[in-house]
Amino acid sequence: MKKIAILTSGGDAPGMNAAVRALVRKGIYEGFEVYGIHRGYEGLLKGDFQLLDRRDVGGIVNKGGTLLKTARCIEFAELPQQVKAARILREQGIEALVVIGGDGSMAGAMALSKQGIPTLTIPGTIDNDMCGTEYTIGFDTALNTVVDAVSKIRDTTTAHDRVAIVEVMGRHAGHLAVRAGLACGAEMVLIPEKPMSLENVCKHLRESYAAGKTNSIIMVAEGAYHSFEVYSYINKTMQISPSVTVLGYLQRGGAPSARDASMAALMSERAIDALKGGTYNCLIGFAGASIEAIPYEEALQRRYPISEEEYELISVLAR
Ligand code: ADP
Ligand code: F6P
Repeated sequence: MKKIAILTSGGDAPGMNAAVRALVRKGIYEGFEVYGIHRGYEGLLKGDFQLLDRRDVGGIVNKGGTLLKTARCIEFAELPQQVKAARILREQGIEALVVIGGDGSMAGAMALSKQGIPTLTIPGTIDNDMCGTEYTIGFDTALNTVVDAVSKIRDTTTAHDRVAIVEVMGRHAGHLAVRAGLACGAEMVLIPEKPMSLENVCKHLRESYAAGKTNSIIMVAEGAYHSFEVYSYINKTMQISPSVTVLGYLQRGGAPSARDASMAALMSERAIDALKGGTYNCLIGFAGASIEAIPYEEALQRRYPISEEEYELISVLAR
């Protein structure tokens, strides 16, 4: 195997650039020619390839976003587009593709594998919600960003004796909300995995006031509620006016934390070693204390739900 390609896909995550850099430099070190594909599967379908050398990936290790750019390419879920992409890769002489992205991106890589293209997926999403891996690149940076933002919001909330609603990302999973809630001492965390009625949210708030608390942080994962929905209900029911902060893209940008940048380097090294050894059609997952190449089918069977213990502990510590 000589020619390989890499792309970033789905939501950008801090550490994607560190992975691109490591794939290119370790790839060249091992004798591969490494091509970057711009804008994920969208660029692949357009044949938007660029041969990368070591200097092309200089100065990006600590930059957020992705040098290769990313995209959400809805039509890639259709078979004719996957057949077309496999044909383009063959025409370019690309012998394997490394995808950096979340579970949707991995589904795209699996689809290409079914078309006979050897692929690997490196987990990259701030949501930390992929099967097959306990860790996804970008989660630690986003977590620290959320905790930093909430600690500032807490100062004003405390000074004014108010309730603050903070909306964090996580359309399908509450990992970010739970871990951030635990780290910043949120009074309540609303996540898609644990539906809680707004009536119950108000009940908890009343209990909190009765216990002598004068301010509260309600952390809402976007997949549980829209923060303004929570605001309206509390406002109407309790005649108080919480502040609302939607952290949005603030959570996806910024320099990767040391954990994310180093995981990106180590996972990329594992990916190149796997290709060198003829191992592919795998997720490069982190399980226990090690980084492994896990066959896609097996990765799909390994699920890592939110930690019940962390979720319960948040309310114990909030009393
Ligand atoms: P993430 O990779 O962060 O989960 P998305 O779910 O948006 O982000 O997926 C990223 C891209 O992966 C999609 O825009 C699409 O191009 C591709 N993709 C998603 N689901 C599939 C699928 N079932 N089959 C093929 N490609 C898919
Ligand atoms: O990267 C994953 C994610 O951050 C989800 O938590 C969120 O729902 C989604 O991306 C939103 O991204 P976009 O605005 O790019 O559609």
